[in-house]
Amino acid sequence: MTALWTSDEVSRALSPVAAVASFEANGVTFDSRAVGKGDLFFALGGETTDGHAFVADALARGAAAAVVSRDVAGAQGPLIRVPDTMKALVDLGRAGRRRSKARIASVTGSVGKTSTKDALRAMLSAQAPTSASVASYNNHVGVPVSLARLPREARYGVFEIGMNHPGEIEPLARQVEAHVGVITNVEPAHIGHMGSEEAIADEKACLFAGMADRAVAVLNRDNRHYERLLGHARRFGVARVVGFGRSEAAEVRLLSCNLQDSGSDVVALIHGRRIEYRLGAAGSHWALNSIAALAVVEALGADVAAAAAALANVKASPGRGARRMLKFGAGTIELLDESYNANPASMPAMLAVLAHTVPAPGGRRVLALGDMRELGEGADAYHAGLADAVAASGAAQVFLCGPHMQALWRRLAPAQRGVHRPDSTSLAGDVATALRAGDVVAVKGSLGSKMKIVVDAIVAASDGEAGR
Ligand SMILES: Nc1ncnc2c1ncn2[C@@H]1O[C@H](COP(=O)(O)OP(=O)(O)OP(=O)(O)O)[C@@H](O)[C@H]1O
Ligand SMILES: [Mg+2]
Repeated sequence: MTALWTSDEVSRALSPVAAVASFEANGVTFDSRAVGKGDLFFALGGETTDGHAFVADALARGAAAAVVSRDVAGAQGPLIRVPDTMKALVDLGRAGRRRSKARIASVTGSVGKTSTKDALRAMLSAQAPTSASVASYNNHVGVPVSLARLPREARYGVFEIGMNHPGEIEPLARQVEAHVGVITNVEPAHIGHMGSEEAIADEKACLFAGMADRAVAVLNRDNRHYERLLGHARRFGVARVVGFGRSEAAEVRLLSCNLQDSGSDVVALIHGRRIEYRLGAAGSHWALNSIAALAVVEALGADVAAAAAALANVKASPGRGARRMLKFGAGTIELLDESYNANPASMPAMLAVLAHTVPAPGGRRVLALGDMRELGEGADAYHAGLADAVAASGAAQVFLCGPHMQALWRRLAPAQRGVHRPDSTSLAGDVATALRAGDVVAVKGSLGSKMKIVVDAIVAASDGEAGR
């Protein structure tokens, strides 16, 4: 098999200041902890650490070569000296994109990017060699790394693009130069940095900047900012717009979604063609992500029926809705782990899944929620606004932490109240000791709320995995 990058190709893409020793690289990384044999290591300057400190170690661990902007002591192996390693990474990403013959999709949105991207990976790789961003590699580093990792033989490429601040999406979209771009939704995530939902919509629409010829925009037909996004898509000159959602006006339409606790049975109309499929991840938000992904599959020119069949294998990942059965006392508890992320769109989606999850006999639904971060001045109102969805979830006991969760605490029915604590460290023990066999416990909060501490405490209090 041809290497991902030869030293000649890297030299052409990066214009190094001096000649480069010969090498072949089969991976690209900037993370010294993850460096593997044959990787091309980029020494990027971080906020706290500088990648140059790890160059010698990366080469000692088998890296094929390292891209650096200054001398490094003790480095045994090929060095590629450039003025700016971050710019060099972008250059290599662009070179990866330029040489690729793959059909390319880009995914952005307030929530559901990784879920939709992972669904696309599963659907497309069942048909042809496919490369997709790992994890949430969606920022100014993650996007060029993902492009630089695009194998030359890939037939499909899927890239997640994210933002926390205005102006971040357009340069990334121009690097990816997608044939099909999907915006999963526009919701008040990171609204603290962005000011308004309209500003978020305007930023997300920059996904359509610099797209390839005959580009297709896939938009959420149910979203309140649909018309605004449509206007932007036209302004950027996309050739075709496809709507997905429950709306009758959607070309890719969710007809029904029968929620089961570990998945859903979905019926959809894809450009007038009815399909039914099993989705391995639970919740109507997942059903919507899956039809967004099917709209992308169709627009890429891939096989829609085969793609739908592959959705049975798509599972929520740890921290994003993964479920675990744990041995607990004389029975089991079911843990719904959403500790990775939370915002005003994904909280109600999780609460709806909890409502559909039936506890074992004698068990209850228990909630442990941490603050949704980066919501700006409206933060308390967004937290208080969860009260109805919490009531509808059927939760018998609610445990909260974080300053903004005070606003929800005040609106809970007294019988539902567990405790409110300042942070997840002080809440973890309360939750673990309150649980009993048969319970279903859901844990969710923004990454910064560190609700994984609560997940870990629950797992530690259990007698280990029980299997399903
Ligand atoms: N369409 C959706 N609507 C509401 N909630 C969703 C949707 N899709 C996923 N979620 C929930 O939102 C959380 C984050 O999902 P995911 O990781 O796919 O989002 P993301 O947009 O990639 O987030 P990030 O900005 O952290 O990369 C998960 O807990 C998931 O269950
Ligand atoms: Mg993500």
